[in-house]
Amino acid sequence: MSEVSTARFEVTDAENEAEHAALGAEIVARAIDEAVRTRGSAKVALSGGSTPGPVYRRLAQMALPLDRIDWFWVDERAVDPASPRSNFRAAYADLGLDRAPKTRVHRMEAEAPDLAAAAARYEVLLRRTFGIASTVAFDVMTLGIGDDGHTASLFPGMGATAIDDRLVAAIAAQPDKGLEARLTLTAPVLREARTVLVLARGAAKQRPIASAWSDGPEEEVPARLLLRARGRVVWLVDRGAYPTG
Ligand code: 6PG
Repeated sequence: MSEVSTARFEVTDAENEAEHAALGAEIVARAIDEAVRTRGSAKVALSGGSTPGPVYRRLAQMALPLDRIDWFWVDERAVDPASPRSNFRAAYADLGLDRAPKTRVHRMEAEAPDLAAAAARYEVLLRRTFGIASTVAFDVMTLGIGDDGHTASLFPGMGATAIDDRLVAAIAAQPDKGLEARLTLTAPVLREARTVLVLARGAAKQRPIASAWSDGPEEEVPARLLLRARGRVVWLVDRGAYPTG
């Protein structure tokens, strides 16, 4: 493992999947611990995709104060929660959230026929949980990066990163890419998280990561929005994903 760090932007590269999972779980667990100690509870936002699974499974083996943690989702696909493509289903199983109090597990209802209404309901839930007058600042949020530079469900070329009047947005389906519609937290919410942990593995991520680390239009590479994050941003990459050029 090697580390390059500035005040808020950190890069940690892991030797292999096991180290990636162990480091990721440790970062999330520490952020949860700090939040519980200083604020009494922790608010966590979870991404989907294939990369976080090993991190979540590792985290599930740790002694977490489950009665003090609220679990939210960063984004969700417009599928039934029982679908293998459901981000809720995957994270719930990997983290063993059947052990958590039901009232602390807050899935996005992206199977709803009216996605805009479902987005508005999730926004109300966030406002209530964080406090009507407070900033929605998650204690820790996991993100991924797509080969096209997307993060959360903020895809390039759709104007998604410019949405700043809502906490949660409905994103249209992209049938040409085989992608269903989505619900997603918006860029302002991603930027407010106290700790953002971006998880990436594999050579296909090298190019989008290099683009995300260099300034330019967010509309082209949405993960660039993290260059303007307010909290700590940790890019946890493996040797394959680390940009070399
Ligand atoms: C999703 C995500 C998405 C994901 C990236 C990276 O619903 O797919 O939340 O933003 O994080 O696409 O996905 P991988 O981890 O599969 O590369």
